[in-house]
Amino acid sequence: MKIGVIGTGYVGLVTGACLADLGHVVVCMDKDTRRVKLLKKGEIPFYEPGLSETVKRSVKGQRLFFTSKLEEVILDAEVIFIAVGTPPKANGEADVSAVIDVAEGIAKVLKKNHSKSSKSELGYKVIVNKSTVPVGMGDIVTDILKKRGIPEKKFAVVSNPEFLKEGSAVSDFMHPDRIVVGASNNRAFNLLSELYRPLNAHIIFTSIKSAELIKYASNAFLATRISFMNEIANICEKVGSDVVEVAEGMGLDKRIGKAFLNAGIGYGGSCFPKDVVALLHLAQSHGYDSRILEAANQANEEQWKIFVEKVEATLGGADGKRIAVLGLSFKPETDDTREAPSIKIIKRLIDLGAEITAYDPVVKKVVGLKLRMAANPYDAVKGKQAVIMVTEWNEFKQLDLERVKSLLKEPVVIDGRNIYSPVKMRNLGFTYVSVGRS
Ligand SMILES: NC(=O)c1ccc[n+]([C@@H]2O[C@H](COP(=O)([O-])OP(=O)(O)OC[C@H]3O[C@@H](n4cnc5c(N)ncnc54)[C@H](O)[C@@H]3O)[C@@H](O)[C@H]2O)c1
Repeated sequence: MKIGVIGTGYVGLVTGACLADLGHVVVCMDKDTRRVKLLKKGEIPFYEPGLSETVKRSVKGQRLFFTSKLEEVILDAEVIFIAVGTPPKANGEADVSAVIDVAEGIAKVLKKNHSKSSKSELGYKVIVNKSTVPVGMGDIVTDILKKRGIPEKKFAVVSNPEFLKEGSAVSDFMHPDRIVVGASNNRAFNLLSELYRPLNAHIIFTSIKSAELIKYASNAFLATRISFMNEIANICEKVGSDVVEVAEGMGLDKRIGKAFLNAGIGYGGSCFPKDVVALLHLAQSHGYDSRILEAANQANEEQWKIFVEKVEATLGGADGKRIAVLGLSFKPETDDTREAPSIKIIKRLIDLGAEITAYDPVVKKVVGLKLRMAANPYDAVKGKQAVIMVTEWNEFKQLDLERVKSLLKEPVVIDGRNIYSPVKMRNLGFTYVSVGRS
């Protein structure tokens, strides 16, 4: 099939490259001309394991193309994906202006070509929203096209939320737990089924509004699980239990399951924080106050602060302390630092007077933060009064801890991700502080 993808971020580029890998012919468009130039040269603008190989394979096979011109995506494509960002506004509401811009752009191109082509008929288009958007966005996109005079029989708007995870995005796209397709007519359902047929995946068909909510509800549920476990960890510290043991005991219950039970310093990234507040806002705008979402969000806002207090308590204040921070990305296997707890923690420690040296396997700079970057974890810890573990990269799980101890000025490890065993760390002679393990 001929596919267009608008937006070449984590979702758009993975979608485009993977669909091309499945044999479709895909044109990816981005308004960021620098990004498009990079992509044309075969360079991937962000870190995502396996993506470069997938892109190169499809470019070489002439199934994947890049452009910054919307027209080049729209005219030939049978299916057009919208995969642009929907960041939070100051009040938490999702900013859907990029989705609206794209919808207006599509409508304009279609209108121009629809009126020109009384001879050659404009083909049927399925416009698929992959961006995470508030319930009702499908109707808004449909209205934009209708207002431009595009006949309803010429297009369908579909909601097909994306569930990939940064760090394993290619594999998640190729082996999804499920594909959700929200549409209002069978022709669109059938086209999307055909598009995804090579994945042999479980596809569920829903209304557009249900599909839109499935995405928010899924992310909000996972975020709530994390906040719940962080609260359990905080209770563990008060009562003397160990949250890792508690999580193991809970996770073996099939009704609960093992995933997303790790306590830590709070969730971050470009999805959970914004999707929880966007859902809260959506509910409020319909006259409903969600107490659970409110609590999940508040608990998350507290968790990184509790960690900073732990650092201060362990070091007798942060003022004048030289601290190494290991890990900057919001989770391992990605370079994404959007809403990363690391940034909030470092900012607060700098405000408190600490001097920070950081190391991350892929993040090599953070704009706007006054910190030194080290070339490797050992350089980062050299001469420091403590090291704090912020992202659970595998590299940190395998550190030579004897060497770390010999390089640190004081043998203090404050672990926000429970990477190490408290017993082992104490036996090695560290002052070791972690989360939910007294
Ligand atoms: N990142 C994730 O893990 C993830 C997972 C599932 C869903 N989502 C959702 O998918 C959407 C995209 O997320 P992302 O992380 O890929 O965003 P991103 O910020 O990485 O990429 C968005 C891209 O869209 C481009 N863009 C913006 N406006 C445009 C326009 N008018 N025309 C053309 N291109 C335009 C930007 O230049 C950018 O390259 C969001 O709604 C997000 O919530 C993200």
